[in-house]
Amino acid sequence: MAFELSKVVPWGRTLEEYKTMFTLSTEDLKKSIASFGDGPASFNAEMTKLKNNVISFDPIYQFTKQQLINRIEETKDIVMKQTKENKDNFIWTNIKDLDELEKIRMGAMSNFIKDFEEGKEEKRYIPHELPNKTNFSDNHFDIGLSSHFLLLYPKLGLDFHIKSIDEMLRICKEVRIFPIIDLDAKESSVLQPIIDYYNKNYDVKIEKTDYEFQKDGDKVLVIGSKNEKLKY
Ligand SMILES: C[S@@+](CC[C@H](N)C(=O)[O-])C[C@H]1O[C@@H](n2cnc3c(N)ncnc32)[C@H](O)[C@@H]1O
Repeated sequence: MAFELSKVVPWGRTLEEYKTMFTLSTEDLKKSIASFGDGPASFNAEMTKLKNNVISFDPIYQFTKQQLINRIEETKDIVMKQTKENKDNFIWTNIKDLDELEKIRMGAMSNFIKDFEEGKEEKRYIPHELPNKTNFSDNHFDIGLSSHFLLLYPKLGLDFHIKSIDEMLRICKEVRIFPIIDLDAKESSVLQPIIDYYNKNYDVKIEKTDYEFQKDGDKVLVIGSKNEKLKY
């Protein structure tokens, strides 16, 4: 089935937020990074300005710059209204209020939009829908990220998650997923089955981060290198 832009609510985060969510160290930032479901985040644009290496994957990159601008304009008031109605589900310390949230998100998406056409030309924005296979070879990237996509929507199913993470782990030496809760701020129902599944062959851990905007959304799932059982 064709991917429909009208079903997407674009909402993008910044490099500063990615650094904190994924506990990306100075050395990590210099590594080769793949970011899945990266949408209109400014992570790629900001990292590229710093001469770092990020490739972003998302089905929305098949659309034109103008289509993406229109969709952001169409949905931003709806998202802000919903956030206002659910204000108590968020922690307003780093981001102080709704005005600041709107400023940060619109700023991130504007930086993404400015970079989009050039980035697409440079193959830094790749139209791609998980769990499909990508065109990259095994272990091409050092780190694979998913911010606010995998685990957040458990309704996509365990099978979808396993197939998606399998592909991410095929092309990335390590995968980090943030947050580990769902939209109701409850532990994602697919989290434990995913941990059990990958624990057999990979080093899997949950790390506390300094990022918490969604209440209780302060942990990242890290699926690290293959453990001893897979090394021979
Ligand atoms: C909530 S946004 C997160 C954007 C960005 N990662 C961030 O944190 O700022 C979720 C993103 O997942 C993307 N998405 C939806 N279905 C997808 C799929 N099957 N594979 C990859 N990405 C998908 C959407 O297009 C959207 O950009």
